[in-house]
Amino acid sequence: MLAVAYVNGRIVAPQDAMISVFDHGFLFGEGVYEVMRTYDGELFLADRHFRRLRDSAAMISLEIGMPDQALARACRDTMDAFRTGPGRGAFDEELYVRLLVTRGIGEMTYDPAKAYRPSVVVIVKPLGQPASWVYEQGVAVALVSVVRNHPRSISPRIKSNNLLNNILAMQEALRRGPFAEAVMRNHRGELAECSQSNLFVVTGGAARTPALDAGLLAGITREFVEEVAAAAGIPVHDTRLTDEDLFGADEAFLTSTTKEIVPIVRVDDRPIGSGSPGPVTRRLLEAYRVRARDVARAAASRYRVEPPLPE
Ligand code: PDD
Repeated sequence: MLAVAYVNGRIVAPQDAMISVFDHGFLFGEGVYEVMRTYDGELFLADRHFRRLRDSAAMISLEIGMPDQALARACRDTMDAFRTGPGRGAFDEELYVRLLVTRGIGEMTYDPAKAYRPSVVVIVKPLGQPASWVYEQGVAVALVSVVRNHPRSISPRIKSNNLLNNILAMQEALRRGPFAEAVMRNHRGELAECSQSNLFVVTGGAARTPALDAGLLAGITREFVEEVAAAAGIPVHDTRLTDEDLFGADEAFLTSTTKEIVPIVRVDDRPIGSGSPGPVTRRLLEAYRVRARDVARAAASRYRVEPPLPE
């Protein structure tokens, strides 16, 4: 596996990246995570990811115990270790950076007071962007019967390491065929989000996405797309969406950190709009990529000047 991991302060090769079986992340799925990526080698929207990580952690009463600067440092050190690793010379492709925090090692109880210290892990590997045909031709998604977690059960706002809801949805999609994503409804039968991405529809030149109170992850790409759309003069609304809104849309697309904006051209066996990526989706993707590079470059200098951490 081409990857490097930071595990509680040590940067190691995949075969040495170990977590104890007594870690509550392993025992109980008790942890939170973020997936970030680079543009031109610079971490993109790290501040927003750290903030969401803290929000997720707070919702499971987990104290991360490291300030943002230290999290940024751990990510950057792991990225540097990956780029300069054996046989990689000057690795200059974009990176995938997964930051995880679990409850850590503790007694075999759900009482958070009985765990000692959170575990912090960073995994860095090549981003492996979707192939260019994905953006040129669009993808098919499945509308699955698995319902997104009820917000008062496990809130989808928590970006949790416990991903069974998402996995079961994707498994259903893959059983039906080679679908790129699984679209889930919420407990009220409204559209919520996909297994690893947020959902947008476009009708009459305006974009709409399920509102957060439908029960979904507050996607950072979703938020950034809304900012890019506003700047480009494309109306965008958070609202309630149903199956009919999706099947009757002119265009649809999904958003995520690793996939950016991917056109959806078919839902199960029904084409969406013309059956190929539409003009609004194309415009947004183009504007998104330009803005993302600018933002990543501007943020880079700030994270470079931090002083070294005390040992
Ligand atoms: N997935 N919804 C879910 C359930 C997700 O897991 C993700 C992210 C998103 C999009 O969020 P963002 O735009 O902040 O990446 C929406 C990441 C990429 C993952 O799990 O790999």
